[in-house]
Amino acid sequence: MSTNNIDKLQQLNVEAGEAGGKERTRRQRAKGKQTARERLEALVDPGSFIEFDRLAVHDCYDFTMQERRIRTDGVICGTGRIDGRQVALFSQDATIFGGSLSHRHAAKICKVMDFAQNNGIPIIGLNESGGARIQEGVRSLAGYADIFLRNTLLSGMVPQISAVLGPCAGGAVYSPAITDFVFMVAQQSYMFVTGPEVVSTVTHESVTMEELGGAAVHNSQSGVAHFTCRDEENLFTSLRALLSFLPANYMEKPPSRPCNDPPERQVPELDQLVPENPHKPYDIKRLILATVDQGEFLEVQPDYAQNIVMGFARYDGMVVGIVANQPMVLAGCLDINASLKAARFVRFLDCFNIPILTLVDVPGFLPGVDQEHHGIIRNGAKLLYAYAEATVPKITLITRKAYGGAYDVMCSKHIRADVNMAFPTAEIAVMGPEGAVNIIFREELKKAADPEKRRAELVKDYRDKFANPFVAAELGYVDEIILPHDSRSKIVQWLKILQGKRQSNPPKKHGNIPL
Ligand code: HXC
Repeated sequence: MSTNNIDKLQQLNVEAGEAGGKERTRRQRAKGKQTARERLEALVDPGSFIEFDRLAVHDCYDFTMQERRIRTDGVICGTGRIDGRQVALFSQDATIFGGSLSHRHAAKICKVMDFAQNNGIPIIGLNESGGARIQEGVRSLAGYADIFLRNTLLSGMVPQISAVLGPCAGGAVYSPAITDFVFMVAQQSYMFVTGPEVVSTVTHESVTMEELGGAAVHNSQSGVAHFTCRDEENLFTSLRALLSFLPANYMEKPPSRPCNDPPERQVPELDQLVPENPHKPYDIKRLILATVDQGEFLEVQPDYAQNIVMGFARYDGMVVGIVANQPMVLAGCLDINASLKAARFVRFLDCFNIPILTLVDVPGFLPGVDQEHHGIIRNGAKLLYAYAEATVPKITLITRKAYGGAYDVMCSKHIRADVNMAFPTAEIAVMGPEGAVNIIFREELKKAADPEKRRAELVKDYRDKFANPFVAAELGYVDEIILPHDSRSKIVQWLKILQGKRQSNPPKKHGNIPL
């Protein structure tokens, strides 16, 4: 064995471990951020990371780049274990050309994505990148396209998770956008297609990185991100928690685990959950927290479109995805953002064999010129489509209102829910009694001696006739009316029964969801 080569290997390995040098590493740490390697070590099980392409280097000879050939070329790729489960990973190194993406850097990421596909394991990207490496021109754009293509082909095959841990610009935001979940750190992560300087030149708007694409913006306004974390450590804890709910690929079931919370546990506090007054709101998260195993619920996109609540939990150890109208916000109405938020989540759950529990209290789609002009029709249709095409076990529980089109959309029997339950407080109708009476008795009310008194009588009649679950139960659209304190045991019972569900859609190339 040539000692020369061994010495050389040692030297190259040291170089690759030094990232962009001491000064740039010092600056990275001074911003409160970890280095790319430290991040990987913090995320995976100790000692489990195996690196690919540690000695890679770019092949660009323009703009004096040949003098700056830094090992790894700005991204560390490989495989490791998280809670004992194998995953594929890459971590961009902002100390090397700002984590920008060269053709070689892209090839490394593509290799690890292919590894994820071939082995049926999740791919996790830790992103911090100035976008396309400017010195490489179209070669770096080609590299991005190679990644986007793989993101698209892997979609629905293995879970794809992005952590954005610093500024990500240009092409560096589109790959995370195709992935299933995006995590960001408050006051540290930024995502924008064009940065503040370009924005100022083109539109003359003066805006900071935080205002343009900080974690708060993307988690509460744009809907690009799903989780805001206070720091990197907190982000990795949340990422591991998310992964614990997911199967490794579309052919596996989500990992169930032993449970100490009794499956038959009664939940008496839920008997008082729904107020007598149908106009009074209540917090649907109380139902979720009271019924799931150990009160553990990982809420997804908690700050965006809060009129719908969704996330992961377990019942008797079995993983479910929960989608619930939230009467506390916009009375639980479905609007554009809520429809988009839930539609993408429902599709994710269906991709990865995760049963869907839908909790319904919805007075309808949000009325208004703004909603109509921005496409509530097209966007509401996405949620309808997502539920209709989903073939995983689907369990629906109507707690109170299920009005109009929103009744159909929120996983009704008609779009293949397996079991539809309702509380005795459920109101299943075309619309609320007040609106219904105003329309069908308009002429009579005009002529009435005391219109208000007559309206109150008619509203009561309508409520007695339609604002209950009994008509739907007679028709078989509701399978069972249950008492609120039995919610947990009923959900557990149905999840167990539906474990062997097999359903498929008619053969075709793919559907055409109204995007
Ligand atoms: C080459 C880059 C780079 C890039 C940053 N650097 N971005 N090198 N190509 N795209 C280098 C800088 O020159 C600098 O080198 C080092 O990385 C650190 O950059 P700083 O600006 O000092 O860091 P910071 O202040 O943290 O700002 C980070 C940043 C900023 C916000 C990302 O660097 C930035 O705005 N970069 C340009 C973003 C951009 O417009 N990218 C092109 C997108 S076009 P030295 O040697 O000084 O350390 C694109 C097209 C793809 O991506 C489209 C596909 C759909």
